[in-house]
Amino acid sequence: MVKICCIGAGYVGGPTMAVIALKCPLIEVVVVDISVSRITAWNSEQLPIYEPGLDEVVKQCRGKNLFFSFDVERHVSEADIIFVSVNTPTKTQGLGAGKAADLTYWESAARMIADVSKSDKIVVEKSTVPVKTAEAIEKILTHNSKGIKFQILSNPEFLAEGTAIEDLFSPDRVLIGGRETPDGQKAIKALKAVYAHWVPEERIICTNLWSAELSKLAANAFLAQRISSVNAMSALCEATGADVSQVAHAVGKDTRIGAKFLNASVGFGGSCFQKDILNLVYICECNGLPEVANYWKQVIKVNDYQKNRFVNRIVSSMFNTVSGKKIAVLGFAFKKDTGDTRETPAIDVCKGLIDDKAKLSIYDPQVTEDQIQRDLTLNKFDWDHPAHLQPLSPASKKDITVVWNAYEATKDAHGICILTEWDEFKNLDFQKIYNNMQKPAFLFDGRNVVNPQKLRDIGFIVYSIGKPL
Ligand code: NAD
Ligand code: UGA
Repeated sequence: MVKICCIGAGYVGGPTMAVIALKCPLIEVVVVDISVSRITAWNSEQLPIYEPGLDEVVKQCRGKNLFFSFDVERHVSEADIIFVSVNTPTKTQGLGAGKAADLTYWESAARMIADVSKSDKIVVEKSTVPVKTAEAIEKILTHNSKGIKFQILSNPEFLAEGTAIEDLFSPDRVLIGGRETPDGQKAIKALKAVYAHWVPEERIICTNLWSAELSKLAANAFLAQRISSVNAMSALCEATGADVSQVAHAVGKDTRIGAKFLNASVGFGGSCFQKDILNLVYICECNGLPEVANYWKQVIKVNDYQKNRFVNRIVSSMFNTVSGKKIAVLGFAFKKDTGDTRETPAIDVCKGLIDDKAKLSIYDPQVTEDQIQRDLTLNKFDWDHPAHLQPLSPASKKDITVVWNAYEATKDAHGICILTEWDEFKNLDFQKIYNNMQKPAFLFDGRNVVNPQKLRDIGFIVYSIGKPL
């Protein structure tokens, strides 16, 4: 029986390993983490992350061939294949701060693997890492390995949150990069055999290590670039009377461009797009390619511009001040069907409104009050560095309330802003909401989920991204 161990029981490690266990009943999969609370939650009825379909997969395999443990060293030493799926946040200090990937967690995992291994192993980079990381990892492993052979593979993950299980069941592709030596090719074959249990062979792409590492950064940069492109168009649509949904539809019908990922929004969020593009920018700069770095930097600049533009629109529409006004914030997660708030645009929008002294009443179906309060007090990039957690300042706390219902959030509000595209926001009783709001009642739709005309007929003043006013 092949034994797999995955270091890092997060949004990637948990779901990915659960699906491997489900599809490969003869492989034993153990997911380990230094966070005892995370592992405890994976072993409980209340999993640590909300992801449609995940509960069922975990229930089917947990205790059979899927295990969650904080006995990291034992399971690493027993495994044949070790996936490393630890966080790789943006550095907050020192060389490359604010851009480069912080590989502290990765390096400590690699040193631990070298320390505890007693047999040959395949070490798989599952985390998103800068191109050439495998070279550094190889150095750490081989210099400490007492003659044990390690093969490093790059196998980046392309799942998106909210659709992780669907994406893992039926991936567009699985990418495996390895050394072009006989041992490297043998390792690629071994990992390919795991995925071949359910992924058609033609969807498993094998490349050299550097192509696999760079393809992951490139894919995220291309995806984010589409959003910044359509968001840049949304500003021009508002200035000219064009409708961004109509423009995106017309543009996306060109099969060379394609229809997906062209929804204008308040801005993209999530733990990876910004971090991975910053990382790419840093790599370009380090390789003496400032023009290439500046090209990708612009994707982030447009994203920041879009979030600021949204806040400015709210404040300027509401007679140039929101001071003391109640603003209902509907949705805080970075996208629907997840409780994840990492880099959610809601943080910047809420902070912008708080700066103008608004009183916020926030509702999200999956995000807890604790999480929201914490997010609104952390500094940029600090969310993935637990040591930096700061206590909440009393001044900001009193301006934020978190409620468990959209009607409660909007009661007596002067304005509403929709920041996540949860399906339930499409079907709210907006007449009832309007009746209970201060007048004039403003609605700012950062996700284009409502029909602006219907709401205007009720009496709302509506602003939708990229749509005529
Ligand atoms: P996460 O923060 O949810 O999980 C990482 C886990 O690793 C944490 O639970 C942490 O406690 C653990 N960890 C850190 N150092 C450890 C160590 N030395 N030993 C044991 N455990 C350790 O992160 P994530 O969202 O799962 O992302 C992981 C990686 O995958 C990142 O590089 C990210 O860029 C990449 N990725 C994420 C997604 C996504 O949708 N979240 C998708 C594709 C790729
Ligand atoms: C993204 C990629 O889609 C995954 O392929 C990748 O594996 C992952 O990053 C990663 O490396 O972490 P994720 O961030 O989970 O996945 O979610 P997306 O669906 O890509 O959405 C990212 C952000 O863009 C969200 O805030 C979403 O609302 C926004 N978005 C997306 C738009 O504003 N418009 C769109 O058309 C699509």
